[in-house]
Order: sequence, then structure tokens, then C-alpha cells
Amino acid sequence: MLNLPKKVTIIEVGPRDGLQNEKSFVPTDIKKQFIGELWKAGFQEMELTSFVSPKWVPQMGDAAEIAVDCLNADARNIVLAPNRKGIDRVYSTDCQAVAVFVGVSNSFNQKNINKSTRAGMAELAPILAELKGKNYFVRACISTAFYCPYEGKIAESDTIKLCQEFIDAGVDELSVADTIGMATPAESYSLFSRLKNLFPHTLLTAHFHDTRKLALANIFASLQAGIDRFDSSAGGLGGCPFAPGASGNVATEDVVYMLDRMGIDTGVNLHKLIDAIEVVRPHLSRPIESGYYRLHTQIF
Ligand code: HMG
Ligand code: MG
Repeated sequence: MLNLPKKVTIIEVGPRDGLQNEKSFVPTDIKKQFIGELWKAGFQEMELTSFVSPKWVPQMGDAAEIAVDCLNADARNIVLAPNRKGIDRVYSTDCQAVAVFVGVSNSFNQKNINKSTRAGMAELAPILAELKGKNYFVRACISTAFYCPYEGKIAESDTIKLCQEFIDAGVDELSVADTIGMATPAESYSLFSRLKNLFPHTLLTAHFHDTRKLALANIFASLQAGIDRFDSSAGGLGGCPFAPGASGNVATEDVVYMLDRMGIDTGVNLHKLIDAIEVVRPHLSRPIESGYYRLHTQIF
């Protein structure tokens, strides 16, 4: 018997993960329209932008403006921040949900945040305590939870140890990522089953990149493990600039289509989602390649 929930929460990450990896800067006004249309499609949670160094990721250089102008009072407005400077920038907005990020792999962290895993966690410890003290919703993004572009296979036990550290620090959610799209459904099922058993009171989210076109299979395997929260990106955009091989996130429209067809409610309207993609598409450096988008735009 399949283990399927009645309802799944989709966390739309297109405006952040999707656009951070675009070759050129998508104009701020287009980003605002894109986010506005995405809200209309019915998402309850969205990563809007990230307060990282604009020298490192120029595509997110307009974070301050996006995080002020694109908020939805009825939804969870998530912004990323890697360090003290990022958090102080978050405090100048009304965003109440912060995503921090550290990978399991030391080599990946050196490339992505210019620090080792230990140094990254040490820097975050007082920040996490402060955020919880101020009643922020805190999401911890665990990169390279399965494979690292520099170190290869990551031991499940190492991923679990890092997740445990974040749980001990009081985070509300773990978003566990297959950064370079290399996990198999068997690996996803194994890790997420263990996390679900270990951390039954924490929101657990799966974040799959679709480099090898295994993301939908990984989502299906994670559903079997009891996961009912998934990050995905409209149009399948995305990737981490510091993780070679990290192509786009799984496309939101493909995830919603699959779940809809299985009778699982996501609250996301596919037609409105396509309208949102059409806003940003002319400004992208690559075509939209998701199965649902291609069929929909050929047929309708
Ligand atoms: P650093 O160069 O070591 O930092 O970078 P620094 O403290 O030496 O500062 C260097 C300069 O950056 C200074 O400016 C700082 O003020 C400035 P200068 O004095 O030279 O003019 N700076 C900042 N400016 C704005 N906001 C900030 C900030 N911090 C420093 N927050 C740092 C360290 C962490 C800043 C850098 O490595 C960085 O920004 N990294 C972010 C990389 C990134 O955004 N990666 C993608 C997001 S993670 C991801 O995609 C994975 C995920 O999707 C899950 C998955 O799929 O795996 C979540
Ligand atoms: Mg990602």
C-alpha cells in the first residue's frame, strides 16, 4: 500500500535558488512581478531572496528592495542570510522567517561561504540563539546532504549529525538538500526515514536539484518516508553558483502536476503558476524545460 499524504506543502524557491544562478541579473521590477504572480498561484511559503554578499552573488544584490516590496502578510516570507551582516540586513525588513545554510561537506562550505563547516556553525550559533529569542521562524538548509561536488558521497551519519546540531540550536525546520542532484530514491528514502524517526517534532523538507532527472522519483520516495514538504522552483530554474553540476531545482509545475494527479492537495494553481513563469521567462538565459511547461505551452 502506498504511503501518501492528503496534503503537501510546496516551498517555492524560484526567486532565490532559481534566480541566483542565472547568468545575468534579472531586473528587480521583473522579480517583483514574478513574485507577485507566484503569490497569486497560492504558495504559503516562499524564499524571496538572500542577504548574501553581492560581490559573491550579484544576482541577489537587490535583496533589500525585494524583501521590503514583495512580502505577503498571509504567508511565510523566507529570506536567506549566511552571517551576522546578513542577519542585520534582515532586521531592517519585516521578514519573520530566516533561512541559514551550511553544507555537510567541508570543501563545499569553503567554496560557498569561505569557511569550514565548524567555523560556519560557530558563527551561526549565537545568531540562531538570537533569532529564536526574537521569535523568528528559522529554517536550516543542509547542503550536500547526499553528495558533494568536491568530496563525493557523504555519509548518512555525517548529515544526521549536522541536522542534530541544528535541532539542538532550536531551528524550526530542516531543508535537506541534494545539492548536485545525485541522490537515488533508495538513498532519499533511507535518509528521510531516519530523519523522520529522529526528529518527529521538526518540520522536515526535501530540496532536490534535478541534474540527473531523478528529482520526481526522489520526491516519491520521500513521500513514502513520510515527508510532506518539498522545495521546488518555478520553471525548474536554480542551482548553486559554487556547486558545479548543480543544475535547476525540480520544477514546481512538474511536482504540482504529479501530486494533483495523485489526488494530493498542494493549494497551488497550475495555470497561475505558468502565468508567473511567463513573466520571468523572457529575462532568463536558458529555456524552460520542465515537462509540464512544454506540454502546456504547446497544447494551449
Ligand atoms: P567573505 O568574503 O569571506 O566575507 O564571504 P567577509 O566577511 O570577508 O566580507 C567580504 C565583503 O562582503 C565585505 O565587503 C563585507 O561587508 C561583504 P567589503 O568590505 O569588501 O566591501 N559582506 C556582505 N555584504 C552583504 N551581505 C552580507 C555580507 N557578508 C559579507 N551578508 C560570505 C563570506 C558568506 C559573505 C560569502 O561567501 C557569501 O556571500 N556566500 C554566499 C554564497 C551563496 O549565496 N550561495 C548560494 C546560497 S546556498 C544554496 O544555494 C544551497 C541551497 O539551495 C541548498 C542546496 O541546494 O544545497 C540553500
Ligand atoms: Mg538549492
